[in-house]
Amino acid sequence: MKPMLVLAIETSCDDTGAAVLLNGREILSNVVSSQISVHQKYGGVVPELASRKHIESIVPIVNEALKTAKVTLKEIDGIAVTQGPGLVGSLLVGLSFAKSIAFARGLPFIGVNHIEAHLSAIFLEEKSPSFPFIGLVVSGGHTSLFRVNGFGKYIRLGQTRDDAAGEAFDKVAKLLGLGYPGGPIIDELSKTGNPKAIPFPRPILSKNSFDFSFSGLKTAVVNYVKTHPEPPGGYPENLIKDIVSSFQEAVVEVLLRKTLQAANDQRLKRMVLAGGVAANQRLRAKVKEEALRQGLKVYLPSSSLCTDNAAMVGVVGYEYLKRGLRSPFSLNAFSNLPL
Ligand code: KG4
Ligand code: ZN
Repeated sequence: MKPMLVLAIETSCDDTGAAVLLNGREILSNVVSSQISVHQKYGGVVPELASRKHIESIVPIVNEALKTAKVTLKEIDGIAVTQGPGLVGSLLVGLSFAKSIAFARGLPFIGVNHIEAHLSAIFLEEKSPSFPFIGLVVSGGHTSLFRVNGFGKYIRLGQTRDDAAGEAFDKVAKLLGLGYPGGPIIDELSKTGNPKAIPFPRPILSKNSFDFSFSGLKTAVVNYVKTHPEPPGGYPENLIKDIVSSFQEAVVEVLLRKTLQAANDQRLKRMVLAGGVAANQRLRAKVKEEALRQGLKVYLPSSSLCTDNAAMVGVVGYEYLKRGLRSPFSLNAFSNLPL
């Protein structure tokens, strides 16, 4: 088969991403422009600012992706773009831009589900799983467990009933005045904290459910902070580290328990972790340890492929374009696009 070059675009939240993939597996370029500095002072993503920043960044980022890949638009065989879920204003920037290129150059184009893209990032690694496997997507907007039978073949086993895991990290960091985004900051601080210092709850819901709930855990941290008011000189550094480390341990334990339970229940030996929170070092270490103990195989994308990027969108786009699937130019963005 003729080699296929896909240009992929991702603008679902606060990262403008463009990538060029060869045959859906080889990354020729994967450029991400983070908007952290724009949103940092607000302690979270401001949707209107995010859309405006995407408008500014999309052309230079796509040009950079083409340049790094050493290809021109003329050589591109197809365009893949995130259609949802995400912030609608942000999604529309990438979607409209992708449509314009496809229209102007007469190229096939396909809309991609962002959660499916996260689950597919693992196929960019040297070691990728065969189907079926258990997939856990843990990001700022999502916490869902799937049985993945193939591209386009997903059975959702459970999801969060309230906050996403990454959202809980971000909210706890904000509460403690640690900055944004909270996940990487808590990850780092926790290394020298005591994960057993504070017995925060492990929200498991019912034993037979694969749903998650993190808002109670977040409230437990709020209550802990309320009952331990900040002394005049601020919290001692060690206390902050113990709080975040104990919080992180609770999240990690719940994610781990449910994922292993799902693997057991579905009689599957392979697990894939995906999404920004899958970059968490404690989660990665614990899941490897537990998988080894239970004779399971765990596949972890490298950290830069866990957080939002366009290469993962290209994997899914390639799979569908290769099968002859196309999206119409009337394709719309959906903030709640289901998987
Ligand atoms: O996948 P992602 O880049 O965007 C979404 O689709 O949401 O995930 C971003 C989320 C943020 O909530 C961020 O705090 C969290 O992932 N995150 C982490 C880590 N790196 C990013 N959470 C825990 N530990 C990390 N190392
Ligand atoms: Zn994401």
